[in-house]
Amino acid sequence: QKADGENLRSPICCIMGHVDTGKTKLLDCIRGTNVQEGEAGGITQQIGATYFPAENLRDRSRELKADVKLKVPGLLVIDTPGHESFTNLRSRGSGLCDIAILVVDIMHGLEPQTIESLNLLRMRNTEFIVALNKVDRLYGWNTCRNAPITKAMKQQSQDVQNEFKRRLIQVTTQFKEQGLNTEVYYDNKEIGKTINIVPTSAVSGEGIPDLLLLLAQWSPKTMVEKLTYSNVVQCTVLEVKGLEGYGTTIDVVLVNGVLHVGDQIVVCGMQGPIVTTIRVLLTPHPMKELRVKGACLHHKEIKGAQSIKIAAQSLEHAIAGTGLYVVGPNDDLEVVKESAMEDMNSVMSRTDKSGEGVYVQASTLGSLEALLEFLKTPAVNIPVSGIGIGPVHKKDVVWASAMLNKKKEYATILAFDVNVKAEARELADEKGVKIFIADIIYHLFDQFKAYIGTLKE
Ligand code: GTP
Ligand code: MG
Ligand code: NA
Repeated sequence: QKADGENLRSPICCIMGHVDTGKTKLLDCIRGTNVQEGEAGGITQQIGATYFPAENLRDRSRELKADVKLKVPGLLVIDTPGHESFTNLRSRGSGLCDIAILVVDIMHGLEPQTIESLNLLRMRNTEFIVALNKVDRLYGWNTCRNAPITKAMKQQSQDVQNEFKRRLIQVTTQFKEQGLNTEVYYDNKEIGKTINIVPTSAVSGEGIPDLLLLLAQWSPKTMVEKLTYSNVVQCTVLEVKGLEGYGTTIDVVLVNGVLHVGDQIVVCGMQGPIVTTIRVLLTPHPMKELRVKGACLHHKEIKGAQSIKIAAQSLEHAIAGTGLYVVGPNDDLEVVKESAMEDMNSVMSRTDKSGEGVYVQASTLGSLEALLEFLKTPAVNIPVSGIGIGPVHKKDVVWASAMLNKKKEYATILAFDVNVKAEARELADEKGVKIFIADIIYHLFDQFKAYIGTLKE
């Protein structure tokens, strides 16, 4: 296929940055939703996805009177967690994206996960825009709801403008220290060479039109090659979850290619590759978050890039974070099955070789990887002997109970963001296996530490 600027797919844009800089809130502001307030502890712990059709991007930036000729159908935005435990999800998100928004809190400047995100983006040569967020927190800020930033800036007192400039210089200096040239976008004379900074407020919407305009204008121009649609299926499983009336479903990001109802697919499973057939293809409505329950649209086929919910048989043991493969008419099923299992095998090889350690259970391969990384950090340092993904079953308790004769404290299941089946709970009580449940990673550590403390007394 030749790259002629026709037949482009929607770019995938990843939102990255330090915890609590306002990544989810920015998306809420653009969508007109309230996802952030529903998150446990106010922190994002999964990858999210939202599709923005081109018309919506155009509407929101209309006030800037730019003549935007969008050649892409829309923009698929991936939300990532900023908490330090989720390096794997940030890495996965940044691995999926064509472009990115790096969010920096104007009151804090560059922070550890800003720099980590920056390095992930640089490693993959991903172009990005900096959203310098929370401008409304500048002391004395005069709210100009959803206004373009230059217009809003004109409404500010001299003091606020000076404070803004002072902080802007601090941030550009910090970027310079990281070896990057950045400039507020309306003063940027070297677009392409110097990275654009867009001041924003996710609470009152100043600068959002500018952010959307930059995203819409810039992606197709510089990335025709990358965005030229290819019909080779490239697809990643984000989550595995039950959906009323459909049984177990998987949420996926389809980057390229087309999925059809009736396609034979292979995904990675806890007990080996899962070969199944797509029964239903669903998407959330445009401008709605895939992570949030709500009405869905049905499709016979869907073209990338899109985030999609797939219903099919036997998905209960599918593992989030792995690739989805379509078996084509000329493919060898055994070869496809092997490809599907590669990611899983690499995680499985990370348990403690001594065979002594706790059992950990998480909702997705990504959260399991994050939990394993966290338990390995020197400050935590908890060995792991077994791992599982999905709800805690009796068999997991049986596995964990093997530690009772070796090291009692390790006869423990650390369950992150998963349910415990009633039979599993009963068996654990009977055998004396401890199960700790939390939906925030470091709370598991706190509970386990407290428990070790009581054992020592
Ligand atoms: P993680 O996903 O957990 O890394 O955080 P995040 O970057 O998604 O930040 P989030 O959207 O959860 O916002 C963190 C906090 O900052 C929330 O209390 C938001 O209400 C607040 N916040 C976000 N953006 C703004 C902003 O522009 N102005 C002000 N005043 N508060 C903001
Ligand atoms: Mg968030
Ligand atoms: Na947060």
